[in-house]
Order: sequence, then C-alpha cells, then structure tokens
Amino acid sequence: MSDKIEVKNLYFDYIGKNTAFGALEDINLNIKEGEFICVLGSSGCGKSTLLSILNGLNKPKSGEILIDGRPVTKPGADRAVVFQNYSLFPFLTVNKNVLFGAKQSLKRKSFTKIEREAKVSEYIEAVGLTADKNKYPFELSGGMQQRVAIARALALEADILLMDEPFSAIDPKLRLELQELISKLSKLHKKTVVFITHDIDEAILLADRVIVMEPKYIKSIVDIDLAYPRIRDELVGKPNYEKIHRKLISLFYQNIEDNIYGEVSL
Ligand SMILES: Nc1ncnc2c1ncn2[C@@H]1O[C@H](COP(=O)(O)OP(=O)(O)OP(=O)(O)O)[C@@H](O)[C@H]1O
Ligand SMILES: [Mg+2]
Repeated sequence: MSDKIEVKNLYFDYIGKNTAFGALEDINLNIKEGEFICVLGSSGCGKSTLLSILNGLNKPKSGEILIDGRPVTKPGADRAVVFQNYSLFPFLTVNKNVLFGAKQSLKRKSFTKIEREAKVSEYIEAVGLTADKNKYPFELSGGMQQRVAIARALALEADILLMDEPFSAIDPKLRLELQELISKLSKLHKKTVVFITHDIDEAILLADRVIVMEPKYIKSIVDIDLAYPRIRDELVGKPNYEKIHRKLISLFYQNIEDNIYGEVSL
C-alpha cells in the first residue's frame, strides 16, 4: 500500500511582478496513514509554504504531492486545516461553527440532520465546550476559540489534519492541555497530521517523527520513539527524552546560527 501523503522532488517559487523567490527546494517526504508529523524550523524557512501546498492552495513549480496515490491540485474535504488565528466565523455560535465543518464532511453527506447534530455535540464535548456551545467567538477566550477551531476541523471528518502553529498564541498551561487533547483525539480518530511548530517540547510531545527544516530544505528527520500518552512532567529528565531534546536543539539552533552568520557576512 502506498503512503497516505507522498511529497516528491517538490520545488516552489513565489512569483512577483519581476521577481521569483525560491521558497522550497527538492522536498521529499513520505507520511504514513495515522502518522503525526511535526515540522520544526526557524521563521521564514518555508513551513507554512509547505502546508499551503499540501492543502492545495499553492501549486508547486515542479514535483508533486500525492494523497492516497492521487495528485493534489486543489483544497479538498479530505484535508482539514487549523491556523494560528482560529479563523472562526464571528457571526456563528460555537455550535454552528462546528456544524459548518460537519456540513462540509464527505462522510456525513448521507446522514440525517439529527445524526449530524449528534456528531457536532460529540466533538464539542470532546473539546470541553458543551456549556459554551451557544456563545459567539467574541465571548470566548483565545484558548476556547482554538478548541472550537479544533472541533470544527474534527467535524469535517477529514483523514488529514494540517495545523499551522495552532497553539503559539496560547498561554503555557492551556497550551499543554490542548497538546494533550490533540494528541489524544488524533490517535482516537486515526488522523494523519502535519503540525507546524517552533517549539521543540511541543514537537516531542506530539510527533511520531519531526521534520527539521532549514531555509528551503528538509535538514533532518528525527524519529520520536516515546510511548503514548506522553505526559510532559513524566518525560522531562528521563534519558531518552533528554537525548531527543538535545538532538533537536542542536539541529534547530544550528539552523538559526547558519542564518545569522549568513546575514552578517553579507
Ligand atoms: N506571498 C509571498 N510572496 C513572496 N514571498 C513569500 C510569500 N510568503 C512567504 N514568502 C517567503 O517565503 C519564505 C517562506 O515563508 P513561510 O511563510 O513558508 O515561512 P515559515 O517557515 O512558515 O515562517 P514562520 O515560522 O515565520 O511562520 C520566507 O522567506 C517568506 O518571506
Ligand atoms: Mg509560518
């Protein structure tokens, strides 16, 4: 069986009026069904660009992306996206935001209204917002809004979840809760996940494999061989956690040093 996602010899340029900026070069990556992939890398190295191509919003200059063996040419209901800034509909309640996701679901097309609404309630319950389901986004904190965005993405029942720094604006305590939530839900619903982050601890808590990027390229792929569920307080200080942590730190900061020295020498 082929992998869920295959990225083959991918190149991407941002084309301006008289300019072309090469944002990704020769990206190759295979992701198995049900795998949780974190993409780690310094600002501007091409993480969001890669995600937008996986989502079908940007087209590669050359190379291709296959999902279930078929080329990606546009966004599809097989991929749900969660961004950093929640992007909820401000004029819809929590319940209706999540219902919007459920209505897009290919799998739910044949379901009755009652069945669909039951599913919506289940996802709202899973993110702990049942008591707030009739509130509007402006009545919720940032963390609650992000939980609605997660419920809406889950309600789409897409096989693939694409997440671009979804927790970066969230305070550390809630962030830990949301990390545990997304880890649990992605395993429960057997999602294939591509999750972008700047945060090494977050990547170790969540990922089966971490893709470390340097500007334009994949620098290294690191297996995170730690059993789930991963509880941060129980892992920190353990030899296998610290070994992975050190490895990622050295890969990540090496990139940043290379960038700084590159800029200074110009
Ligand atoms: N629309 C655009 N037009 C031209 N260049 C762009 C555009 N969007 C991004 N870039 C450039 O492409 C490179 C990669 O950008 P991208 O947004 O993918 O980085 P990133 O790794 O997601 O960074 P961050 O961690 O800051 O979100 C950057 O150098 C950026 O300046
Ligand atoms: Mg980005």
